Amino acid sequence: MRTLRTAAEVRAALAGPRREGRSIGFVATMGALHAGHVSLIERARAESDEVVVSLFVNPAQFDDPADLERYPRDEAADAAVAAEAGADLLFAPGAGDLYPDGFSTTVHVAGRVTEVLEGRERGSAHFDGVATVVAKLLNVVAPDATYFGQKDAQQLAVVRKLVRDLDLPVLVESSPIVRDADGLALSSRNALLADADRPRALALRRGLLAARSAAEAGERDAGVLVAAATAAMREAGVEPEYLAVVDPDTFEDVSPLAGDVLVAVAARVGGVRLIDNDLLTLGEP
Ligand code: PAF
Repeated sequence: MRTLRTAAEVRAALAGPRREGRSIGFVATMGALHAGHVSLIERARAESDEVVVSLFVNPAQFDDPADLERYPRDEAADAAVAAEAGADLLFAPGAGDLYPDGFSTTVHVAGRVTEVLEGRERGSAHFDGVATVVAKLLNVVAPDATYFGQKDAQQLAVVRKLVRDLDLPVLVESSPIVRDADGLALSSRNALLADADRPRALALRRGLLAARSAAEAGERDAGVLVAAATAAMREAGVEPEYLAVVDPDTFEDVSPLAGDVLVAVAARVGGVRLIDNDLLTLGEP
């Protein structure tokens, strides 16, 4: 695996494979790679001839400078994980490479998909930062397919809309949430949890499972699912920051529930902000 720093280097490295008709799979990351990222890279490896992974902690998507400051950074460790998972190229630009002096363009995806839940909690700049950097990375790598985790369900919906609206010629694939044995969704933030808080972090999953049980028992009122999930989380000692049942593409509220619906939750556990979600496919009750 080669590590490249600039857009020009990436384009030059991919020119040959592209000419030969080799397919390119791309996984965008901010590093701190865990088994969730590995599953995306391995899927890209299985489905593409060339695999590119980007590693860039994107300042534009952080609403809290302290959060940006403490974001884990270990390029050597991440490079080893990416190579082991099957990456051919690691694109690890510096901030000045992606945002040179004078950079002044923002990609803004409008609508509820960026306004609610994560958009409301983290501020409007968050998804602008994500959309801008993803648009740039897709433009540099120009992959055939790009792989995003279902864990960041709202980010996935924003990327899908960005790609649709701008006619970007790339397939957006999503992969299921990877969980620890006890059910905690893998996240780079889990490492920040104090040992004493780790069991309480399972409250998010418990809430989602309570909503799923209610739906499987035939409940089709979103409010009842939210109440069941909230009660299960409170029982585990955690208050949700938000807990909502939404359309997985538009993030509009849905009720009565039918077809594919997303139950999404965020909560702070001992000061660490965690998110999780569950995609339900509902037939007739
Ligand atoms: O999910 C992430 O790690 C980031 O939001 C992404 C997609 C790499 C953009 O910076």
